[in-house]
Amino acid sequence: MTGSPAAPGPHDRSAFIRTCRGEHAEHTPVWFMRQAGRSLPEYRSIRGTGTILRAIADPDLATEITLQPVRRYGVDAAILYSDIMTPVHAVGFGVDIAPGVGPVVEHPFRDRSDLDRLRPLDAEADTPYVVETVRNLVRDLPVPLIAFAGAPFTVASYLLEGRPSRTYVATKALMHTDEALWHELMDRLADLAIASLRSQVDSGASAVQLFDSWAGALSPADYERFALPASSKVLAAAGELGVPRIHFGVTTGELLGLMAAAGAEVVGVDWRTPLDAARTRVPAGTVLQGNLDPALPAAGWAATEPAADDVLRRGGGAAHVFNLGHGVLPETDPEVLERLVAHVHASGPTAPAPQDRTEPTG
Ligand code: CP3
Repeated sequence: MTGSPAAPGPHDRSAFIRTCRGEHAEHTPVWFMRQAGRSLPEYRSIRGTGTILRAIADPDLATEITLQPVRRYGVDAAILYSDIMTPVHAVGFGVDIAPGVGPVVEHPFRDRSDLDRLRPLDAEADTPYVVETVRNLVRDLPVPLIAFAGAPFTVASYLLEGRPSRTYVATKALMHTDEALWHELMDRLADLAIASLRSQVDSGASAVQLFDSWAGALSPADYERFALPASSKVLAAAGELGVPRIHFGVTTGELLGLMAAAGAEVVGVDWRTPLDAARTRVPAGTVLQGNLDPALPAAGWAATEPAADDVLRRGGGAAHVFNLGHGVLPETDPEVLERLVAHVHASGPTAPAPQDRTEPTG
């Protein structure tokens, strides 16, 4: 089965998909990055021990974990319970996810011979559990399912550094000393992301998000030269699937125009850039997603409500998908997120995307 750009999806009339397409909706849609996970007691009680990669590989468990926040919060979209490292893990690169740390790589990428450890992904054969989870979900879900992949730069940073990094020294060393090899690595990772996204959408997902979480480590010039080409390739392929594309990173205030130009209907914004400022940095018609500071829901409702109202005001009541500026923090009280969803929904219907936006300057 292949994705058909013209095929109508079952959730085309939903607030989330309509807003991603720049149409008005009955309310501002809201979902949370990392909504499935550690802040939910019902997650902790079924998650079991062992690495998250093992939980992802159990379709019944992954289906239930994906559904939990939809039931609890009433969010307008589900995001597949998986990880950005799933495809590289599945082709046998040798990745694990250490609790409280993140992705760790036993033998980091060092030279050209390591490209052989990144063969193409055959999603049906290598990640049958992802395909099965998506198929289970779309049968049961009342809201659209967001497929996702890690952007080549962010995945490459883990493969090169071997673990989460603050400086990205190995990553920047490769890009600035062997640009040809860097681009070959990025191209392999783009193909893995494309194969993964295609299988998720072919199995019924309604939108895609490309997570370039750590792109903000790059200057605009380096982003444009070293990260954007491969992300554009992924987003172009996702565009052929006919679903809305969301492009997200953290500390990307200086990159928002480039991230929109990479080929996305929706650009995710972290809490450092107010949405009205972000609006002036992306082309007219771009939808923004974000951007409440995730520390505020973790601080309680009194801290959350006024900040959420400010996000809604700056979002402008149109062309805005409400989200946090990054993932839900584990210490967040689920009740605060429940109230937040109700509060966003009560803020009223949205208007069509305004057409009079400033052209990007970047
Ligand atoms: O958003 C969701 O609820 C869906 C599931 C999801 C997970 N990871 C599950 C997960 C998504 C969309 C991701 C993407 C992901 N994974 C990103 C991009 C998003 C972002 O946060 O910027 C990144 C950078 C990763 C890599 C990764 N995986 C990290 C940094 C960690 C945290 C390590 C830790 O324990 O603090 C993980 C593990 C992980 N992925 C957890 C979850 C729920 C927590 C560990 C667990 O429950 O076992």
